[in-house]
Amino acid sequence: MALSVAFDTDPGIDDALALILALRSPEIRLALVTTVAGNGPLDMTTRNAVRVLDYLGAAHVPVAAGAAAPLQKKFRGALSYHGPDALGQVPLPEGRTQIEPRVAPDLLFEFAAAAPGERILVATGPLTNIAHAFQRHEEMPSLLKAVIIMGGAFRLTSYGTGNQTPYAEFNIWQDPDAAHVVFRSGVPMIIVGLDVTNDPSSALNAADLAQLREGSSRAATLTADLLEYALRDHEYCFMHDPLALATALDDTLFEFTTGEVDVVTRDDEERGRTVLLPAGSRSNGHAVAKVASSVDGPRFRELFLSRVLEG
Ligand code: BDR
Ligand code: CA
Repeated sequence: MALSVAFDTDPGIDDALALILALRSPEIRLALVTTVAGNGPLDMTTRNAVRVLDYLGAAHVPVAAGAAAPLQKKFRGALSYHGPDALGQVPLPEGRTQIEPRVAPDLLFEFAAAAPGERILVATGPLTNIAHAFQRHEEMPSLLKAVIIMGGAFRLTSYGTGNQTPYAEFNIWQDPDAAHVVFRSGVPMIIVGLDVTNDPSSALNAADLAQLREGSSRAATLTADLLEYALRDHEYCFMHDPLALATALDDTLFEFTTGEVDVVTRDDEERGRTVLLPAGSRSNGHAVAKVASSVDGPRFRELFLSRVLEG
């Protein structure tokens, strides 16, 4: 039976690619999409989520907006990479889906509480909504099967250094206080950081774009348009968010290191730095996480491209 997944996201080019992968993957059922300010402001990321879902025939998936700003820090987007609309200015019509009147944290809680221990939350933006949900509903961490997080740079490979600063990955840097709440919550975590997502063997390139242009489905067209924008100024389109989702599709694509994760919340040069310590090194509530330490890049790319192109 397909795994029920809620997707908390800030689309974003690679967030949109992850949504496409989710909608094309029989292993999971996309039950809820919640949006957060991250790559762009909240109204932009919400509009993008709705446009992507609607275009791909998934207007039935409920979309709820969440936090417009991090817990404590000031909001800063990433439009210089993702484009002025945060979605590479791809020609997508406006979506018709109505945004849920209720806020993301409450809907995320209800999603988890509907089947305790069975449901997965995938978070591909700053962790603000998840932190709000955990703060408002203290039992929520114990209700989830796992949270899959795209975030962090743990120096487990030569790629595991920051992309926002030399120390920090963007999602965690944007809201380190939220990451702190989630890391200490006790929720089972699977974390996919830059250690694997910046590995070029898992990134898409111009040859992949040419292959996608041969597809005729809406998924193939949208994927190609997003990729084309990302490749304008870069040799690779890194697949940060689709890689996080892929742990729920086929975890044999990855190797993991287990340990306790922590984050620097101070607003200095180390802000957002993530560390992985051996399990049991601290006794003050740090959760044990599975952190991705390598990826079979070619096999991941084959999975992604075949899902997008098939049918
Ligand atoms: C993460 O930051 C965002 O720009 C991407 O969407 C991804 O979630 C990578 O650091
Ligand atoms: Ca993202």
